[in-house]
Amino acid sequence: MMLVTMPAIKVLTVVEDNFIDMHASNEFIATSLLPPPYKDIQPVLPFDDHGWYKNARWIQKIFFFNDTKIKTVVEVGSWLGKSTRHIGQLLPKNGKLYSIDTWKGSIEDANDKVAQDKLPTLYEQFLSNTIRAKLTDKIIPIKSDSLLAAETLAAINPDLIYLDAAYDTDSVLKNLSAWYPFVKGKRGILCGDNWYWDSVKIALRRFCQEHNLALYVGENFWFIKETGVFEENSFINQQDEVWFF
Ligand SMILES: C[S@@+](CC[C@H](N)C(=O)[O-])C[C@H]1O[C@@H](n2cnc3c(N)ncnc32)[C@H](O)[C@@H]1O
Repeated sequence: MMLVTMPAIKVLTVVEDNFIDMHASNEFIATSLLPPPYKDIQPVLPFDDHGWYKNARWIQKIFFFNDTKIKTVVEVGSWLGKSTRHIGQLLPKNGKLYSIDTWKGSIEDANDKVAQDKLPTLYEQFLSNTIRAKLTDKIIPIKSDSLLAAETLAAINPDLIYLDAAYDTDSVLKNLSAWYPFVKGKRGILCGDNWYWDSVKIALRRFCQEHNLALYVGENFWFIKETGVFEENSFINQQDEVWFF
């Protein structure tokens, strides 16, 4: 009898839009053996799930169709790490995620009382959440302004960049200009949050027009493809090919 080996079939289990991440209990954790800056956090704060991440299903699709290509990620704007932990969990064991944030909040949060109350311990809470999620080997916090970080990290080669910092047109344009060179030449994927904001739409359309890029948008998420022509498309209900980079 001849045995036929079937090729392994990958199945995409789409996560809920309201992504709820797994985390350890709130028990005491010793940090002395963790890498810096995690080892200096004591006590580790109780887990705080707060965040704005609604792009889990889109990020998951990008990983599903390009998983072997994505080992190094840059996230600009992490807050308490809701998006950071999701992306961190999708990375392979030896993957790295550079999490860039001032941990001072954005101008947009000024009228958000819940967000304002978190500012005094924002960074410590981010580190604590990462420790409790057991992702300290993968997530490297860079406490810095985004544009300064882009200069400092010039030597890294990210396979994916997720932009989720300030949403005003000027900031988005500056972030696009600072981070696009890292992935230009089809070396990586540039995507981000906040497409619902008009200020973000203006920045993305202007940038993509100037650089002859195709902009793909849906819900609050966007990504860019290097096609040599400016166009704007929805990625919702598109063929799977749209997720290949
Ligand atoms: C909307 S929050 C990020 C939300 C997070 N990705 C999540 O999933 O919950 C925006 C973050 O961008 C950070 N931020 C704003 N301007 C920045 C800048 N110029 N450089 C670095 N981080 C900045 C803020 O401190 C804030 O934590």
